[in-house]
Amino acid sequence: MRISDIILKKRKGYSLSKEEIEFFIDGYTNGSIPDYQASALLMAIFFRGMDREETLSLTMAMVNSGNRIDLSGIKGIKVDKHSTGGVGDKISICLGPMVAAAGAPVAKMSGRGLGHTGGTIDKLESINGMRLNLTQEEFINNVNEVGISIASQTGKIAPADKKIYALRDVTATVDNLSLIAASVMSKKIASGADGVVLDVKMGSGAFMKTIDDATELAKEMVSIGEGAGKHMVALVTNMDEPLGYNIGNSLEVIEAIDVLNGKGPEDVLELSLEIGSYMLLLSKKFNSLSEAREKLLSVIENKQALLKFKEMVKIQGGDPEFIDNPELFKKAKNTLKVISSNTGYIKHIDSEEIGRAALLLGAGRENKDSIIDMSAGVKLIKKVGNFVSEGEAIALLYYNDSGNIEEAREKILSAYTVTEKKVTPSKLILDVITKDNM
Ligand code: URA
Repeated sequence: MRISDIILKKRKGYSLSKEEIEFFIDGYTNGSIPDYQASALLMAIFFRGMDREETLSLTMAMVNSGNRIDLSGIKGIKVDKHSTGGVGDKISICLGPMVAAAGAPVAKMSGRGLGHTGGTIDKLESINGMRLNLTQEEFINNVNEVGISIASQTGKIAPADKKIYALRDVTATVDNLSLIAASVMSKKIASGADGVVLDVKMGSGAFMKTIDDATELAKEMVSIGEGAGKHMVALVTNMDEPLGYNIGNSLEVIEAIDVLNGKGPEDVLELSLEIGSYMLLLSKKFNSLSEAREKLLSVIENKQALLKFKEMVKIQGGDPEFIDNPELFKKAKNTLKVISSNTGYIKHIDSEEIGRAALLLGAGRENKDSIIDMSAGVKLIKKVGNFVSEGEAIALLYYNDSGNIEEAREKILSAYTVTEKKVTPSKLILDVITKDNM
């Protein structure tokens, strides 16, 4: 078999066989297929797509590129959650400790930033000393000890995805249904949790721009997961404006801490409660969504979730003082207010544009070796439904390097649509997919 023939076959729009997909995954993982050929194949897949059988073969080849973690050493039903990527999506950071404080063991494997979206691992690294590269043993021990661990994908878990994910990030090949489904599900199958709640994002800040595409992705992933013996729920959620107000690594951790202090933005809290309730249901800790939701609200109220976050940070080598005193997070040297030239109600905020503005300020990667500026990012001052007057600030930019500041400011301005009529924000949870309603 030759990789150039496989690239040509996909470029012409034919389906690849299981053996051809395995040949690509094995070769790219062991280094015999170079980045340039892998990029060409990814681009061909991007344009030609993959059918269900190819997507399943790709997922399983990626699972088999590494080990599966055996979580049987952790007591109870282990639950995990994964988002397909959004802007300002800091949900895992507040939700994980909430669910753990409510009694379900959380063994969560997270990713780095991808395209215009941020990643939980990058964000948590803004806490001094925080280690996210855990061994399998540490990961399991931490869950047993404090009830939660969030770790980056070790080299042993779906290493093919780890390499391909980094390559897709810098070759404009992220937003493809099959590539996303295989990437997410290979990690979820290999990382051993019993139940997984997926947050499938839809809208301007998501990789899936329409409800139909997001629903198809949700169904594809639920069916792959159920086929692999996991209990799956997928929520299709709105990413037509960024989640919360803060976009950027340390800014998002600070906002997640606000949620755990009972002072977080409504949309971040609502989504955390919704996803968390399904996680608690899958863990069999609660029998109804309403009971689970009440418990999650109570662990915020009595600060147990905040305490859980501190315990997790401490056991992973991070400085727990950062959680009590977010002033300790490194600050950007400069800020710039973005001023509205319109008067009216905010109708829409193009989240992808906001995500790209944050990237321009240094919050994400331009190439595989780029170093992230943890303190760079955007704080929205106005959200959908708010009224703005000409001359008023709509957002605040945080930056250290002023090289792209004008372009970032323009992106923020063009992301906002203002109208004369009053606007009601759209629904946050658009659909819930389970094996029973597909
Ligand atoms: N999250 C992942 O893990 N992979 C993707 O491709 C997109 C989001």
